[in-house]
Amino acid sequence: MFDYVPSPGFLKNRVILVTGAGDGIGKAAAKSFASYGATVILLGRTIKKLEAVYDEIEQAGYPQAAIYPMNLEGASPTDYENLANTLETEFKQLDGLLHNAAILGNLTPLEHYNIEMWYKVMQVNLNAPFLLTKACLSLLKTAANASIIFTSSPLGRKGKAYWGAYSVSKFATEGMMQILADELETNTKIRVNAINPGNCRTAMRMAAYPGEDQTKSTLPKNIMPLYLYLIGPDSHKINGQTLNAQG
Ligand SMILES: NC(=O)c1ccc[n+]([C@@H]2O[C@H](COP(=O)([O-])OP(=O)(O)OC[C@H]3O[C@@H](n4cnc5c(N)ncnc54)[C@H](OP(=O)(O)O)[C@@H]3O)[C@@H](O)[C@H]2O)c1
Repeated sequence: MFDYVPSPGFLKNRVILVTGAGDGIGKAAAKSFASYGATVILLGRTIKKLEAVYDEIEQAGYPQAAIYPMNLEGASPTDYENLANTLETEFKQLDGLLHNAAILGNLTPLEHYNIEMWYKVMQVNLNAPFLLTKACLSLLKTAANASIIFTSSPLGRKGKAYWGAYSVSKFATEGMMQILADELETNTKIRVNAINPGNCRTAMRMAAYPGEDQTKSTLPKNIMPLYLYLIGPDSHKINGQTLNAQG
């Protein structure tokens, strides 16, 4: 699946929502899904970045995308319900949901962790995917074959000093993914998995490792085979797994 090459147009007529679609891995995923025929909903907080991705998709001749500006930090449960209702009204379907947006927070000992920052990281990295999934589930259940992908990290499997709320949010993300996968395994056609992207050259990586030689990190577009595999129908038997995008 790391060298997965889907057939052209294999995501045609599918509607896929990507969070954090304006930059980094989310941007690469949105463009990649669109290049295989998906209609992509670009959710993020910086409209300029979302517009740039929208334009790239349009200029490439892929299906027209849609922009849904939303700051996950301040969004209320009602905002998520409104989003799900808008998707139902405008698109009548939702076939894929990629939870990608996240923030790093502080790299500091727990003893000194800023409490406000702790809440922010949990809100964006954990509560937002919970609320978004909850709001979108009834629409996802109507799809013939739907895929929910969470985004994890090695720090969600092994705690390391100073990674604080980010690491805790990724541990919880893996737990949420497994619970949801188990709950939806019977009586729905929704599968739920997580991707560990590995070391990727993005703004987040640079913030976490400012002294690192960036050329040693792979570009987000190079890890797209796993994203394509898990979002599309070929992975219909995979459920409850965390897979590494770089092997
Ligand atoms: N890069 C790596 O090496 C690596 C490794 C392991 C896991 N990951 C995971 O991969 C995912 C993507 O990371 P990345 O490296 O691509 O990070 P990134 O370049 O920082 O991109 C994160 C995206 O999330 C959006 N976002 C952040 N806060 C938001 C909010 N409050 N509301 C809406 N959108 C928000 C950002 O929007 P703005 O552009 O507007 O800020 C941005 O588009 C994350 O879940 C991260 O934890 C990355």
